[in-house]
Amino acid sequence: MKKTIAVIFGGRSAEHDVSIITAHTPIIQSLLATGQFDVWPIYIAKDGSWYSDQAMNDLAYFTQDNFQAYLARQKKVQILFDNGLKIIWPGIRSKTIQIDIAFPAMHGTFGEDGSLMGLLRMAGIPFVGCDLFASAVAMDKVLTKQVLTAESISVVPYVWFTKNDWEINRSIWIEKIAKLNWPVFVKPVHLGSSIAITKVKQNSELENAIEVAFHYDDKVLVEESVENLIEITLPIMGNEELQLAAVERPLNKTEFFDFSDKYLSGNKKGGGANSQYSEIPANIDGELAKQVEDLGKKTYRTLGCSGIARIDFLVDGSSKQVYVNEVNTLPGSLYHHNWKKVGVSGVELVTKLIAFAEKRFVSQQKTTYIFDSDILKKAGGQKIGE
Ligand SMILES: Nc1ncnc2c1ncn2[C@@H]1O[C@H](COP(=O)(O)OP(=O)(O)O)[C@@H](O)[C@H]1O
Ligand SMILES: [Mg+2]
Repeated sequence: MKKTIAVIFGGRSAEHDVSIITAHTPIIQSLLATGQFDVWPIYIAKDGSWYSDQAMNDLAYFTQDNFQAYLARQKKVQILFDNGLKIIWPGIRSKTIQIDIAFPAMHGTFGEDGSLMGLLRMAGIPFVGCDLFASAVAMDKVLTKQVLTAESISVVPYVWFTKNDWEINRSIWIEKIAKLNWPVFVKPVHLGSSIAITKVKQNSELENAIEVAFHYDDKVLVEESVENLIEITLPIMGNEELQLAAVERPLNKTEFFDFSDKYLSGNKKGGGANSQYSEIPANIDGELAKQVEDLGKKTYRTLGCSGIARIDFLVDGSSKQVYVNEVNTLPGSLYHHNWKKVGVSGVELVTKLIAFAEKRFVSQQKTTYIFDSDILKKAGGQKIGE
């Protein structure tokens, strides 16, 4: 019998639209191509409503002109987390589907940040990609740096503060930022896709850039710019035993790799990262590539990643110093174009990821979460009815 798999995408995040594309190319398309799964798309709209309809397996559903009107006529689904995950279509012709495995494909808040993984853990079903803890750390660019620094992995020097810190006393932070090597990058800590990131070259631009970042986040990071930049990214998959894709170099068109470079230019079909502007494998010397691979594996393990993740590096082209910039979990980590280059097809990729999810689930089942004790009996207290 075919396994039932739910691909969950959309969501209440700034990257809602990007998530729709990534969920379809390559996840849903590859899952359907395996012929092994009954694929149920679960679409979370910008207002947080949940929908599911197999018509949504086709990207065209979301690109049609009257999409919003069409969606308004769709019945919202309910999700039951009791004893597995079930999708329920309420009403007269009520229907229920039991999900065997989930494939999260939501970027950003509530999706990539561990929230969805928490729900799936509560439901007690296997799900693809990193677990809650690795996802939550990877989602926070500061927490990532703090965890990596504790394991002596180099990150770019930085300053971070919350919106409250900034409102109470700006000058402390401006002074700290002044001590960094300029230019600097200002980033919201939890966002991706280069949203609200600014490269600041002079003092007069700083406060505005920070305000922009605080518009989207309550925690902001200011870090030194790596000049003569060589960007490198390395997709990795596996639980204990790790498999590496090719060391890839995204090639910048604009001053830094921004939202439109990533998703809109070149490849008209969309599909997440833009392979057209990447060099695979990166044309860098062997020693540097080896350093990136070793650091990538160490970073993956330090964050406790499982399933799949993609490690981004910033390399100073003159000093050849390698910094880990960030860790991307699902769905940003898929990079099927790169896996293809090392001989892993889209179908093989999703099949492997599902196998990792099931393996992790089985091993988690072996951990005892329940502890029998008679502490409640000893707690005493007044008997009900007395
Ligand atoms: N410290 C830095 N030095 C030079 N370029 C940077 C630096 N930080 C970010 N960038 C540029 O900005 C892009 C987006 O920043 P990144 O930290 O990767 O955020 P996102 O999560 O949005 O991808 C990077 O791909 C890179 O091109
Ligand atoms: Mg990035």
